Amino acid sequence: MLKKVKKLLKEVEVFKPKSKKDIENFRLKFLSKKGVITNLFDDFKNIPTESKKDFGKEINNLKKNAQVKFDSFRYSFETKKKNAEFDLSKGIGLDNLGSKHPILLVKNQIISIFDKVGFAVSEGPEIEDDWHNFSALNLAEEHPARDMQDTFFIQNNPDVLLRTHTSSVQVRYMQKNTPPIRTISPGRVYRNEAVSARAHCIFHQIEGLYIDENVSFADLKQILLYFAKEMFGEKTKIRLRPSYFPFTEPSAEVDVSCNICNSKGCNVCKYTGYLEILGCGMVDPNVLKNCNIDHKKYTGYAFGMGIERIAMLKYGIKDLRLFFENDIRFLQQFNSGD
Ligand code: DAH
Repeated sequence: MLKKVKKLLKEVEVFKPKSKKDIENFRLKFLSKKGVITNLFDDFKNIPTESKKDFGKEINNLKKNAQVKFDSFRYSFETKKKNAEFDLSKGIGLDNLGSKHPILLVKNQIISIFDKVGFAVSEGPEIEDDWHNFSALNLAEEHPARDMQDTFFIQNNPDVLLRTHTSSVQVRYMQKNTPPIRTISPGRVYRNEAVSARAHCIFHQIEGLYIDENVSFADLKQILLYFAKEMFGEKTKIRLRPSYFPFTEPSAEVDVSCNICNSKGCNVCKYTGYLEILGCGMVDPNVLKNCNIDHKKYTGYAFGMGIERIAMLKYGIKDLRLFFENDIRFLQQFNSGD
């Protein structure tokens, strides 16, 4: 009996199919309900108790080997590989290269739009202190607006946190540079929020900052219109709504005309014809003061946008979680070949 199992094991070992049919025959012989392995399990009942252990081990081994063999050959035939076993001398299959993630594509596009009008890229740390993330941005310790951004603190230390926005990079940049300042700061940010189709605890933002003499709200409107047209098309219109951010005064939220329905109203823009894309405003003099910039001489504007949000609007993506799941079927749609 044991001999029979050993013989079958050998047969599995040397099996090399020439066609799909061979693989199917292999399956029928070894793995189907009427196959040899099922029969062996039936015979198992008649084996003397003292041999049961050895015999059981051998048929389980046979079953495992047959399954592995079958799976690997079936896979390689399905993927149209002629040579079923790995051939390490083969080339690396250039038809199967990865593609850029949509967040990276949109980030690069935003950077290049602002690069054309003189904005340099700057970056800052993801682990921040309270001063750069909050206090310097006019959010004093007890400021109620701190609750707008649920924060992850590190090791219960209220002074060490994961930055909740890229506005912290503004502060770092102003501390190190003197006006004129024209910079954008892309990066990852963190918020202690439940994950859903519209929110995530990790996402990406781009912050913009322009400080010089005589910078006005009109300059801000102009750059935003320029950005919206470059990003969403020449016909795009923008709309500014008064809002509140502690670090800007006055502040606004910016909407772009819905490019899905041409502003006529659809379920994406909730029949308003417009979609919100970012927050902005004139940098509050207190923020300039905190960063040692002469607030009597200089003024400036700032804006901040979520990269996922822009990507969702640009590509008509309805669920934010798709960006983080890395499902190859989703990612391959953005394969532009570069
Ligand atoms: N930091 C804000 C947020 O994460 C976005 C923002 C709004 C940035 C207004 C700005 C601004 O620079 O002026 O929600």
